[in-house]
Amino acid sequence: MARIVLENLVKTFGAGVTAVAGVSLDIQDGEFMIFVGPSGCGKTTTLNMICGLEQPTSGQVIIGDRVVNDLEPGERHLGMVFQNLALFPHMTVFENIAFGLRVRKVPTADLNERVSRIAETFQITHLLAKKPAQCSGGEAQRVALARTTISSPDVLLLDEPLSSLDAKLRVEMRTELKRLHEQLRSTFVYVTHDQAEAMTMADRIAVMQGGRIQQLGTPLEIYRRPANLFVAGFFGMPTMNLISGRICDSDSPRFQSENLDLKLPAKAVPRTGTDRDVCIGVRSEHVLLGAQGAAGRVQLTEPLGDETLVFFDYGGPSQLVAKYRGDRTFNVGEAIVFDFDPKGVLVFDAEDETRLA
Ligand SMILES: Nc1ncnc2c1ncn2[C@@H]1O[C@H](COP(=O)(O)OP(=O)(O)OP(=O)(O)O)[C@@H](O)[C@H]1O
Ligand SMILES: [Mg+2]
Repeated sequence: MARIVLENLVKTFGAGVTAVAGVSLDIQDGEFMIFVGPSGCGKTTTLNMICGLEQPTSGQVIIGDRVVNDLEPGERHLGMVFQNLALFPHMTVFENIAFGLRVRKVPTADLNERVSRIAETFQITHLLAKKPAQCSGGEAQRVALARTTISSPDVLLLDEPLSSLDAKLRVEMRTELKRLHEQLRSTFVYVTHDQAEAMTMADRIAVMQGGRIQQLGTPLEIYRRPANLFVAGFFGMPTMNLISGRICDSDSPRFQSENLDLKLPAKAVPRTGTDRDVCIGVRSEHVLLGAQGAAGRVQLTEPLGDETLVFFDYGGPSQLVAKYRGDRTFNVGEAIVFDFDPKGVLVFDAEDETRLA
């Protein structure tokens, strides 16, 4: 019904710019798919090719079982919330939201009931009588969301719909959108540069960079088993610790780097063997501050309430960070001892940056 298949989509602008460099993806009916990646990686361009605002340079867009490349946006029957949202300026917020239902001649009582319900969902009941120009950026975004979702489209395309909201509201709207998806069971294709949004809402995430999908997977697959250094560095707060060095000695494999010599668990040794240049990645929650291991010195602490980020120097090229959950306090300049939890050590190839183990 509302399965979306992208087949080797390419979009170039003029001679020099390749915005999308060959994207293939099979989005299931009812799936919550999130495109995430840094600014300029081709997210909006991909979404625009799905909805018909951009014509692919090559490749196909299939919605349901039809190739839609030659259909106008209006003929594709999709709901859209754009990055630059377009509300009708002369209509009130109420009428903006009700527009789709009026077009379909939904009876007034039903219409009023549905507008008031969706306005509650997006916390905009108090704005219903206002015009869009009298709304803040974040309020207008929620009006646009309400206007699009009220008609329960089979496919909903959303381009950074929460970008203008304050931090608290953004977290609340994440929950509301997830709930709405559960309710509607429509196919959601959602674009964001915010990894936390992607992690919390998606069934599957497509991580993009340079016009290509770097990895496709569930949030936890991507967090735990990043395909390459780019994905590893993009997900997680704080950013994963990355240390360049060498894996040596196949009998008792060790990772050696400036001021660091660690025994590696067998699991962390690439199938392709030892004696090679690598980069290891360890998330802050897998850096253990304790009684044994290598020596470091605290440079900075960031208490977050339930846990503390401890940034420390170990004599290598860059500092490391540990996420500490115990009761101990750490002072700047204090000597510490650290180790890596073996199950949290990832190994990447130093040259092509793909994950080896
Ligand atoms: N109409 C256009 N003409 C020329 N170049 C374009 C055009 N639209 C997009 N681009 C370029 O294509 C690339 C991808 O743009 P796109 O808007 O898809 O990025 P994005 O991932 O949505 O970024 P953001 O997070 O900033 O919205 C960028 O380098 C951009 O400059
Ligand atoms: Mg964009």
